[in-house]
Amino acid sequence: MGTIWSQSFFLPEPALTEKNLPDQTGKVHIVTGGYTGIGFELAQILYAKNSTVYIAGRSSSKGTAAISALKAACPHSQGRLEFLSLDLADLPTISKSAAEFTSKETRLDVLTNNAGVMVPPAGSTTAQGFELQMGTNCLGPFLFTLCLLPILKKTARTAAPGSVRVTWAGSLGVEVFAPKGGVEFDEKSGAPKVLGSRLDYGQSKVGNVLIASEFAKRFSGDGIITVCFNPGNLKSELQRHGSRAQIFFGNFLLYPPIYGGYTELYSGWSPDITAAQNGSYIWPWGRPGTLREELVNAMKSKSEGGNGKAEQFWLWCEKETKPYI
Ligand SMILES: NC(=O)c1ccc[n+]([C@@H]2O[C@H](COP(=O)([O-])OP(=O)(O)OC[C@H]3O[C@@H](n4cnc5c(N)ncnc54)[C@H](OP(=O)(O)O)[C@@H]3O)[C@@H](O)[C@H]2O)c1
Repeated sequence: MGTIWSQSFFLPEPALTEKNLPDQTGKVHIVTGGYTGIGFELAQILYAKNSTVYIAGRSSSKGTAAISALKAACPHSQGRLEFLSLDLADLPTISKSAAEFTSKETRLDVLTNNAGVMVPPAGSTTAQGFELQMGTNCLGPFLFTLCLLPILKKTARTAAPGSVRVTWAGSLGVEVFAPKGGVEFDEKSGAPKVLGSRLDYGQSKVGNVLIASEFAKRFSGDGIITVCFNPGNLKSELQRHGSRAQIFFGNFLLYPPIYGGYTELYSGWSPDITAAQNGSYIWPWGRPGTLREELVNAMKSKSEGGNGKAEQFWLWCEKETKPYI
């Protein structure tokens, strides 16, 4: 209960905001889902600081509208805004999106894996038939990130140490919705079980915690830092599938989305995050967080005294996305 409270109420002021973020001239960033909600707020902070920002999403009309709004909001920016077509729920299209990006840019400083979906109608699946939340929140971003790994590694060779990052969207759902153990694997198929909408959301967000942890182990030698963040409880389009009552009551408990932008900003850009924090979990509005014991256990391999679930989850993501890389 304590950790839920600490991530939801009486939160400390954000450490990194548009006021103290250094100039980003020459930097190139991708924000998935950057045309709505939290991602839009992050994109605005970055663009105002003169960076090149790719807003990646599946709707070009939403992308174009967001780009117009950002240009109007930041008329003095010397940065650049681009739309990148990306559908995280359709695996064969993802490597093409990454290839489009790498055909246009020579560097990628921070990839914010922000896009996600929460409690869609029961039975919703991706184009390849995966449960929609597990597919969109984990498999899609996993594949997109692996496709961008060469340009991230290349950027890290010359960029300031610790500045090249990949961040993953967790949630309070990690605490309140996920099943016991974080992810429940089906013994026969080795895949995460489909448990029902809220549990599946929580499970997918634990998936992001586990991916970040494994990513850190695998790629810290390449100079890439990665963290998973709970952005906070925010008003956005995420509640689009909720009932009227849930949306009504949510409005009393949720914060303006800019605060989630600050959590993402801290995760991707704070100098407080160094190699020592690689693979860690960030709390709202940008501060080191903790995870419950069973998840800490899941993040450790069996040889490290844990239960190896993070590695198991990584290997499942690898197996399912391999045909599309
Ligand atoms: N809001 C909160 O309280 C809260 C709390 C904890 C965690 N989070 C996490 O924060 C992240 C951002 O959420 P938000 O609150 O800003 O919600 P949001 O406004 O609904 O933003 C989600 C974004 O993800 C995009 N998206 C969904 N499916 C996609 C797909 N198949 N391919 C590409 N993009 C897709 C959406 O694009 P479309 O509009 O085209 O669908 C939208 O731009 C999510 O990962 C969410 O789980 C949010």
